[in-house]
Amino acid sequence: MSLLAAFEAKLAELKDHCAAKYPLPALRIGDKTAGLPIVQGGMGVGISLSNLAASVAREGGIGVIAANAIGMIEDDYYDDPTAANVRALRREVREARRKSEGLIGVNIMVAVDCFHQLLDAAIEEKVDFLFLGAGLPIKGIPVRAIRESGVKVAPIVSSARAARLIFKSWEKHYGDLPDAVVVEGPRAGGHLGFKPEQIDRPEFQLERIVPEVIEALGEFEARWNRTFPVIAAGGIYSGEDIHRFLALGAQGVQLGTRFVATTECDADIRFKQAYLSCREEDIVIVQSPVGLPGRAIRGPFLAAIARGEKKLFRCPSRCLESCEAGKARYCISEALDSARKGDFENGFVFCGANAHLVRAIVPVRELVAGLKQGYALACFAGALRAEYAKAAEKLKALKEEYAVTLACVRTKVQDNLRRLAEEKEAWFREERARLRERLKQIVAEYAEARARLSELDAELVFFLSRAASLNAG
Ligand SMILES: Cc1cc2nc3c(=O)[nH]c(=O)nc-3n(C[C@H](O)[C@H](O)[C@H](O)COP(=O)(O)O)c2cc1C
Repeated sequence: MSLLAAFEAKLAELKDHCAAKYPLPALRIGDKTAGLPIVQGGMGVGISLSNLAASVAREGGIGVIAANAIGMIEDDYYDDPTAANVRALRREVREARRKSEGLIGVNIMVAVDCFHQLLDAAIEEKVDFLFLGAGLPIKGIPVRAIRESGVKVAPIVSSARAARLIFKSWEKHYGDLPDAVVVEGPRAGGHLGFKPEQIDRPEFQLERIVPEVIEALGEFEARWNRTFPVIAAGGIYSGEDIHRFLALGAQGVQLGTRFVATTECDADIRFKQAYLSCREEDIVIVQSPVGLPGRAIRGPFLAAIARGEKKLFRCPSRCLESCEAGKARYCISEALDSARKGDFENGFVFCGANAHLVRAIVPVRELVAGLKQGYALACFAGALRAEYAKAAEKLKALKEEYAVTLACVRTKVQDNLRRLAEEKEAWFREERARLRERLKQIVAEYAEARARLSELDAELVFFLSRAASLNAG
């Protein structure tokens, strides 16, 4: 086996080990549980229909059909847009149900003119979830019908303030609360809930607003003894990103851009290929005629608009309340519908800030497998990092203890030496005194001995002289 093959085999083994050890957690919203914490973001004007939604649901995520201008896929849209929208929505929901037993949601923009008709149709179809964005879903929400049909509701917000407002309003008017919240940051695709100047500011980034929304919902969780999962959206691209947002407290993530680049996405292949071929500098913020900024890929249509051209369009109903159709230089729904069909002379492509990272169009199953693997590797890396930090902490503590112990030993040695020196000095002094004393004694004894010697000397002289006189006699 070559070195590279051995390395790849080891890597695959590690990935399998990680995937088994760190599976993506399930997402519970009320009494509904998705096997994966992944919501496929609703993408209007025919980008996310039954095919994409069912494919995501089959993998354990939440598949979402976008109801906004869905009627444009019908032949009679311009005769009766509301009827076409409602018919197309019902058909796509049924089709998704036929193709999958998983969880299916519907995304409806609050600001569309037929919001209530779409809402009623989705409730009657007993979809699993309603994702309600582009406005505050507070007025005329048929909460009782929603509950009777077992539908769960998740408003889409861009700030803690909006989340609090919706929850307070539901509490007051309906004596009930939504079931979850999608928090969409400024790196998302499509229309954005931010002013253009807010898009790059740190305080509006998803990493900042997710914890703020979680905190805002805490008050309601405590009062209602319920949990309201937060689902983070906008710029989430990899399994590592999913890991990061779950670690921040989100219980799920919503992805749009990644699901466009799938075989099953309902848009024309040229729409998907636009993601593959775009560079980061091709992704721009446009001011949509509906008064909101949106993120899109530069192309001939936007270039023409920038030159001041006005595109002819038909406006059968003012489909978005905030649209100033009279002044608009193009119709956003028509432009998005053209792009969906791969016509970039008459439309442009909405995308998220990370669309330039897309390298291939893959089946949903493969995308999900990659996300699971990326998440598992991030968990593994996180666990390693935590272990490393623990070991580093221990090392630091040991180093400190070593330094303290060393200092202690040094002081002790010095103390001992000093004490030893002190003890020796005393002994020396005593010894010296003792010796001095002895010397004195010796001197005294010496003097005594000398005195005795002289005495003996005198006695000897006397004796000798007496002996001499005796001998002479
Ligand atoms: C082509 C496109 C169309 C979209 N249309 C809608 C829409 O109709 N309603 C909506 O609430 N969000 C819409 N979005 C936002 C997505 O649902 C999702 O929240 C967002 O794209 C997440 O960011 P990401 O693309 O970086 O993953 C759209 C996004 C894209 C890319």
